[in-house]
Amino acid sequence: MTDHELLSGAREAAEFAYAPYSNFRVGAVVVADDGRVFTGANIENASYPASSCAEATAINTAAAAGVRKIDTVAVACIDASDVDGAYPCGRCRQIMSEFDVDNVYVTAGEGSEIREHTLDELLPYRFKL
Ligand code: THU
Repeated sequence: MTDHELLSGAREAAEFAYAPYSNFRVGAVVVADDGRVFTGANIENASYPASSCAEATAINTAAAAGVRKIDTVAVACIDASDVDGAYPCGRCRQIMSEFDVDNVYVTAGEGSEIREHTLDELLPYRFKL
């Protein structure tokens, strides 16, 4: 899948976000090392810390299906005004690190700029056991 296809999948996944508190809908697509593809969206909770980010939803779904190595995560926030406001949070970067994500693609709504990073760029000197 091309970066455009992955990010358009992430935008589609964002349509399923449950974000009644922030109104900030985020979607993610995960590509595992065996080629399987998983999606996720942010799921909020009235008890805010019980919420799940889109990347965490997608990565944990992949992990629960047996995935242990992820090549790429594509993230799109369809409510961010531009790509600068759509970057993965620090906790999601750490969750990406657990499954050795190589590449992270980020975008906002339709037509917005696409940024491509390595996880090393987004999370240098990471914590690993
Ligand atoms: N959010 C994500 O889904 N991913 C991120 O990396 C950053 C933030 C969600 C969490 C919450 O539902 C909403 O965006 C506002 O913080």
